Amino acid sequence: MKALKPHLLALPDYPYTMAQALIKLDQNESPYGLPPELKAELASRLAELPLNRYPRMHAETLAERIADFEGWPEAGVVVGPGSNTIIFALVAAAQRVLDVSPSFVHYEHSAHLLGAPYRAVPLREGFELPVAELQEALGEGEPGVFFLPNPHTPTGAFFAPERVSSLCQTAAAAEWLMIIDEAYYQFAPADMKRQALGEAHLGILRTFSKAWGLAGARAGYLLASEEVARVVRNLLPPFGVPAPTALAVELALEHPGYVAEAVEKVRRERDRVYLELKAHPTWRAYPSHTNFLLIRTPDAAAAYQGLLKKGVLVRRQDHLPGLAGAIRVTIGTPVENDAFLQAAFELAREERGNEKESEDATGED
Ligand SMILES: Cc1ncc(COP(=O)(O)O)c(C=O)c1O
Repeated sequence: MKALKPHLLALPDYPYTMAQALIKLDQNESPYGLPPELKAELASRLAELPLNRYPRMHAETLAERIADFEGWPEAGVVVGPGSNTIIFALVAAAQRVLDVSPSFVHYEHSAHLLGAPYRAVPLREGFELPVAELQEALGEGEPGVFFLPNPHTPTGAFFAPERVSSLCQTAAAAEWLMIIDEAYYQFAPADMKRQALGEAHLGILRTFSKAWGLAGARAGYLLASEEVARVVRNLLPPFGVPAPTALAVELALEHPGYVAEAVEKVRRERDRVYLELKAHPTWRAYPSHTNFLLIRTPDAAAAYQGLLKKGVLVRRQDHLPGLAGAIRVTIGTPVENDAFLQAAFELAREERGNEKESEDATGED
């Protein structure tokens, strides 16, 4: 196919495979979503929506509401149909891309799609932020866009604000644009929005897909300088945020109280699942400041398939650098989490049973 850029034909697909299961814990969604009374209100507002008309060009009404909610100048707010689309636009704008490794795959995937030079600095032992190595990378060559997810995906780690701040300073001095992807900030002890306000070299990316429970609506936003926002907005398709999406998110922003409640429940459950997994003989969960847990197992394929057979869908992460044996489980409702824990411990017993059988067969003790 000569009509298309050859590198695109050779690129692998986005690494996600859909699977059916009774209990879906594979995409870091909220188990809760909009409360029933808000759903009813949304249904009646949707009934009045003139779907024969285009929505606003760049979801300006929603951007204005987000600006109010976040205390951010409206000209610096960019709304997209999912923060993924904003990442793609940022990469399209970038001279080059700097990342950490492992990381949220969409930064690297976008860079390869768009042909942007890409470099990733490995996290240190224990998923620590490699500050010195990143500072060195920021000091070398021409500047570009540096993505840092904090809390970090896919590990769930949280990088201390002082350490992130020192990277922001280096990035600004070297004229990089640093984007802190705060997709999970509601689950963490702190965020960087205040530091970013008025700082031209720093942007904050957020989404309605996680704590807000609106993954199906598809909406995310960037808080940046007016100059950066204008460039990113121009790279997003006009009229790209569907009117029903804008309506749903505007309604959620009128009633943000439900989010804190959902976050509190998820945090409590996350800490419970983490603690209960400590009794697992072969799986080790890492501490998390998100709505998911990264778990090191002896064999990610076996863990994934074993859980799936018991009706629990999780996500394999063992294809990522430094994550051999890793799976990721999203925190669900208490009932869903119990089903996951039960399946995890059953698998351990079955594994032990199999080992014992083969020991008996070979006469070992
Ligand atoms: C770190 C991070 N950024 C961005 C996204 C994408 O979110 P959205 O649903 O807004 O496209 C995700 C989704 O999992 C994520 O983990």
